[in-house]
Amino acid sequence: MGCPLCGYLFICETMSSDDMRVAVLTSGGDSPGMNACIRAVVRVGSSRGLQVIGVIGGFEGILDRQFVELTPRSVARIIHRGGTFLTTGRSEEFRAPEGQERAAAVLDEERIGALIAIGGDGTMQGLAALKRVWDGLVIGIPGTIDNDLYGTDFSIGFDTAVNNALSAIDKIRDTADAYARVFLIEVMGRRSGEIALHVGIASGAEAVVIPETPTDLEAIAARVRSGRRRGRKSTIIVVAEGDEAGDATTLAARLTELLGERCRVSVLGYIQRGGNPTHLDRVLATRLGVGAVEAVLSGRDAVMVGEVSGKIVFTPLEQTWTRRKPIDRWMLEVLEELAS
Ligand code: F6P
Repeated sequence: MGCPLCGYLFICETMSSDDMRVAVLTSGGDSPGMNACIRAVVRVGSSRGLQVIGVIGGFEGILDRQFVELTPRSVARIIHRGGTFLTTGRSEEFRAPEGQERAAAVLDEERIGALIAIGGDGTMQGLAALKRVWDGLVIGIPGTIDNDLYGTDFSIGFDTAVNNALSAIDKIRDTADAYARVFLIEVMGRRSGEIALHVGIASGAEAVVIPETPTDLEAIAARVRSGRRRGRKSTIIVVAEGDEAGDATTLAARLTELLGERCRVSVLGYIQRGGNPTHLDRVLATRLGVGAVEAVLSGRDAVMVGEVSGKIVFTPLEQTWTRRKPIDRWMLEVLEELAS
């Protein structure tokens, strides 16, 4: 019978996990739901006989021997908190092969048998690099608001970030309507238009500008003009920060010239990354945390645990960043039709 939470058919019941020490860390940009995920790893890991060790400060924490023993009680009252109580980081030293070798030696000295890391593409790359020099098991969990990892429909924190952006855009719509203004609203997404597309649909935006598709400002200007002719008051254009044509400020200057009226800019920034995780992020984080524990117990290695079409799946680490997650073209077309 499969696990009731993640549905994955595990073989851990037949395996001995006595004294197996598993380290867990968060790395790169934090995302709401990381705490819920750590909690699931610690509680389910402990109940199935694992000893879970937290690493403070991401991969750098391994090099600095920042280890803390985690018990089911030490993760009480964190499921609802944004950020990550283990703290996070981007380690220069760990990026170099010498750093990875030193990390492997430290993990061996600490008798760690497996490492679970929650983060984005940089975290998956870090785990894969460590795997080349370390014998322990490495398991990744997607935790990034950008939702740009191949191998999972959604990553931890994405839903909260979209809801954070949405509540800001709803407020901007009020003032935009009051003046019949054009607003360009910049959301996060270094290489991905996932936040922009979802928040664009959910906020009823007139256009989204994302790195996955070429940006045609003339066409957007034409859409603004025709909307006006049909009585539309305000126009909201959601811009992914990583768009190839430029950021919202650059695009607003060009659109201002094309339309002959000043276009306003709002950069939402880090507000998107904080706050209490939504119920969807807490549940996803829990399922993926349990999936990672079961992966360790069944001896899986060098994979990221994700959720695709409601099922827990495992993807080789390297594919998570070498394969591109396709943007939903249908959603893009629908957004344009809805705004026409
Ligand atoms: O977490 C992903 C992300 O939010 C990107 O969208 C953004 O560009 C980046 O992190 C910025 O984060 P930092 O300033 O922490 O590097």
